[in-house]
Amino acid sequence: MGLSLPLHVVILAAGRGVRMRSSLPKPLHRLAGKTLLDWVISTARQLDPQKIHLIYRCEDEALHQACDAPDIHWVYQREALGTGHALAQALPHLPDEARILVLSGDTPLISINTLKTLLDTSPDSLSLLTTIADDPTGLGRILRNAEQEIMGIIEEKDADPETRAIREIYTGICVSLASHFKRWLPQIKTNNAQKEYYLTDIVRLAREEQTPIEAYITPDSKEVQGINSRAQLADLERYVQRQQANVLLEQGASLADPQRIDIRGNLTVQPDVYIDINTLFEGEVSLGESCYIGPHCVLKNVTIGDHSHILAHTMIEGAIIGAHCTVGPFARLRPGTQLHDHCKIGNFVETKNAQLDTHSKANHLTYLGDVRIGKEVNIGAGTITCNYDGALKHQTLIEDGAFIGSGTELVAPITIGAHATIGAGTTLRENAPPNALTLTIGTPKSIPNWRRPTKKEE
Ligand code: UD1
Ligand code: CA
Repeated sequence: MGLSLPLHVVILAAGRGVRMRSSLPKPLHRLAGKTLLDWVISTARQLDPQKIHLIYRCEDEALHQACDAPDIHWVYQREALGTGHALAQALPHLPDEARILVLSGDTPLISINTLKTLLDTSPDSLSLLTTIADDPTGLGRILRNAEQEIMGIIEEKDADPETRAIREIYTGICVSLASHFKRWLPQIKTNNAQKEYYLTDIVRLAREEQTPIEAYITPDSKEVQGINSRAQLADLERYVQRQQANVLLEQGASLADPQRIDIRGNLTVQPDVYIDINTLFEGEVSLGESCYIGPHCVLKNVTIGDHSHILAHTMIEGAIIGAHCTVGPFARLRPGTQLHDHCKIGNFVETKNAQLDTHSKANHLTYLGDVRIGKEVNIGAGTITCNYDGALKHQTLIEDGAFIGSGTELVAPITIGAHATIGAGTTLRENAPPNALTLTIGTPKSIPNWRRPTKKEE
């Protein structure tokens, strides 16, 4: 029966979030790289609801801008007068026959399976998601009678010591019919310690009119952990990171320390990947079989082929790296970098919009920007592609087998022919022909008996 009713999700996200002490709306704080709101919305979407209504405050225009999607219906709550008042703002937009799932914008880890279990309850009842908290401080306690029937939810601030000792808490997530909510919400009053319209008062109202009340007690209290403070956010961040690390371990990656890896996005690994300590993965990162990632690297939107080694303190963004490559230590690969198989990029080398074909290398102190490099090219230490003339960027082309001597400046646009050799210390402004040695012959002069300036004695 439940499946035939249309489902609407209402996400409450208009609270002031005062305990965060932040100018950023609470739902925009990030957990593992994703905003709290994105976590909730992406889970809600998996239920394929007819509509997702998002309750927000006028002042939080930033929120609106941050996740403006066509399937989200934005509902203003003019003032944060409480969760009951928040849900009431959505009522005019909810068809009477719909089931309404209420979610909190500050409870990011709620799982799709738990929500499905909650939705398996009878549609006509009020169904609450609860859990047994190790530390229930600050949360609404579930009051049950001797028959274990739910009698009410008491907020911490309204609870006597006996009630505070109860460990079953309300998660802020519930489901019932729109027609029920439309009857209950107008009856809620602010006669409580916080002078707010508590949504949790509907339990008492349902009880009074003998609407059945059900509860699903989730055994996973982390998935319903609400974020009210930065300390809670930091705790949950470590929890999510550890969960992600566990998945990698299961997939056959070795982690030098599962507590010292951070993934803010999606990291996919093939077996026998080894990841040393303190590396940050952002966006979409994929590591091939037997890749080695050294300590203290930052990898953002990167694909790395099998058997490649990224050495310590390397930063890579927006790059594709082939198999059997070595990068770093202390290398910086910027967007548009593509290394084919068996390339080497060494320390203090920066690349941007640079393609290197197989077996090419730049081992030391080099800038390669807007450049296409053929196969088996050697770029000497201190080579610079001078790609910028102050207004425009220009391309450098270095063909197969070329050898660029140390300390060379290649003033783009320029082409270095196949198997060309460029002598050390050359500033090249014109194309270098293939198979030739091109160099600047300037004879160094010596001035005898040269005395360097000295500091005056006091
Ligand atoms: C709420 C519940 C509490 C439960 C806890 C679980 C009430 C009265 N209390 O308490 O029983 O144990 O969640 O985490 O419901 N919001 C609005 N408009 C408002 C007030 C709040 O949209 O006027 C939103 C907030 O942005 C937040 C959610 O509602 O996403 C919950 O509000 P919050 O103030 O965090 O309630 P808690 O004190 O955590
Ligand atoms: Ca909360």
